[in-house]
Parts: sequence; C-alpha cells; structure tokens
Amino acid sequence: MTTMNSSRSTVLITGASSGIGKATALLFQQRGWNVAATMRSPDKASDLQGLDRLLPLQLDVTEPESIQSAIAQTLEAFGGIDVLVNNAGYGLMGPFENCELEQIRRQFDTNVFGLMAVSQFVLPHFRDRKRGTLINISSIGGRVTFPLYSLYHSTKWAVEGFSESLHYELAPLNIQVKVVEPGPIKTDFYERSADRQLKLDSDYQAFYERVMPKMNKAGQSGSPPEAVAEVIFKAATDKSDRLRYAAGKQAGFLLTLRKLLPEPLFYQFIRQILIR
Ligand SMILES: NC(=O)c1ccc[n+]([C@@H]2O[C@H](COP(=O)([O-])OP(=O)(O)OC[C@H]3O[C@@H](n4cnc5c(N)ncnc54)[C@H](OP(=O)(O)O)[C@@H]3O)[C@@H](O)[C@H]2O)c1
Repeated sequence: MTTMNSSRSTVLITGASSGIGKATALLFQQRGWNVAATMRSPDKASDLQGLDRLLPLQLDVTEPESIQSAIAQTLEAFGGIDVLVNNAGYGLMGPFENCELEQIRRQFDTNVFGLMAVSQFVLPHFRDRKRGTLINISSIGGRVTFPLYSLYHSTKWAVEGFSESLHYELAPLNIQVKVVEPGPIKTDFYERSADRQLKLDSDYQAFYERVMPKMNKAGQSGSPPEAVAEVIFKAATDKSDRLRYAAGKQAGFLLTLRKLLPEPLFYQFIRQILIR
C-alpha cells in the first residue's frame, strides 16, 4: 500500500525494474524516502509492489508522454521531487561496423536523449522549488574505453560531457548535478539487457572471440548493485558540490590509473588485460 507523505524527501528513478535502479529504489525506501520507481513494465515488478511509500510507475525514457505522466503521478502522490536518478540504460556491444544504424539510434535514444528528456521535464519543477539534485548514472566507461563497446562508450562519454557542463549552469539555481560512475556490476546489463544482435563480419570474428568473454567475465565478477545504490544515496544526501562519484570495487582503481598513467601506458594496460 503506497501511503502519501509529502514531508519526506522524494526520489524519482528511471530503469527501476532491475539491477542498479531496483537496488536504489529499495535503499531509498528503506531509508524513509518516498520513491517513484519508474520502469517500462511495472506489472512485471511484483517484488516492488505493495511497499510503503514506493510507487511503481510506467516510464519509457524514449516516450515523452510516459515521462510526463510518471512525473505528474509522482507530484500528485508525493507533492514534489527532490532527486532525479537517470539510471535507465543498456549496452550495444560488438564491432562498430557490424551495428545497424537503427541499433545505434536506439542506443543513443535511450542512454543519451532519454536521459536528457527526463531531465528537461523535471528541471522546471526543480527551478520552481529553487532546489533539486540531478544524478546521472554514467560508467567508468564514460571516462575510459574498452574494445567492442565503442557505441556504449560514445553514449556515456556524452553523458559525462553533458553533466559536467550542466553542473556549472544549474549551480546558481541551487540545482546540483552529480555523475555516478560504476565499474563492472553484476546485473542484467551483460545478458538480458545487452544488445548483441550483430551479423559479425569474419574479419572481426577472432578478435570478438578473444575479447568478449573477458568483458563478460568482468561483469560476472563485478560488485553487487547494492554497492552502487549506496553511492547514489551518498550523492543524493551529502550536500556537497562534488560532481563525480566512482562506484564498485574496480572503479576507483581504474579511474586513478587513467589519471596517473600517460595515455600510451594506459592503452598498453587495457591491451594487456583484455586483448593479449
Ligand atoms: N552493470 C554494469 O556493469 C554497469 C556499469 C556501469 C554503468 N552501468 C549503468 O547502470 C545503469 C543501470 O544498468 P544495470 O547494470 O542496472 O542493468 P540492468 O539490470 O539491465 O538495468 C537496466 C535498466 O534500464 C531499463 N531500460 C532500458 N531501456 C529503457 C527505456 N527505454 N526506458 C526505461 N527504462 C529502460 C531496463 O528496463 P527493462 O527491465 O524494461 O529492460 C532496466 O530497468 C545503466 O545506465 C548502465 O549503463 C552499468
């Protein structure tokens, strides 16, 4: 039973049906927040139904009407939105040349334009209230790259640049922008959600077979999504103007290495662990 409570803080999360989004919805609910847990098919999220102050709502980030409707229902139920977590996203994986343009468009429609659309619908509300926190789930893949993920990386590098620029222009309006950068996390990302529908060109076959299993293995041995949820909660509540938060056991290490090593040495390191 969802009980209305407007004295509590409210978070709206996209992609809350599984993985990081679901863990985040449950963590905020357990910590006493009102939670708008939005997802494409709320009827499938039986374990999120019936929780106090948690409202499962239909929202597809590529469908503007569904975004508007979910925001309106959140405002009606909880009276406001304090934090938006743009989490919905997936990976298109494989050699760039073998990805169809339609797949590339869908990747950007979800990870970039979807995130921008939800933000544009929520920002007027933040400006009205003269406060708000916008948390974009990027990836370590928004700061470094791995082979066979070129299109996914393009979307996350876009999210990084977008968020970094935006944080300057929203700060004077008392709206904080935060970027959470998970390392490998054990979720549906590497299987159910991944788009691997490619007609692999034979020239890429050997490289694909050498590299892709290593990428998948990194995901399988990744941190649990609850670790990222904790970092998102910290970003939502620490009242700092910090922009970036690494999340998961391997994220800090890789990002530090990227910062410290000269570029050729870093590329050598990536070749060593993933290609050779
Ligand atoms: N797992 C990792 O290693 C990792 C690392 C770094 C960053 N991330 C990022 O973390 C975020 C969450 O991924 P995850 O690891 O938790 O994977 P996940 O379990 O596959 O969750 C992805 C979520 O995004 C939703 N989604 C996909 N397209 C959508 C759309 N058009 N509209 C609304 N929701 C949509 C999915 O909904 P459905 O259930 O309807 O498909 C699902 O709820 C993504 O942005 C991902 O890029 C993940």
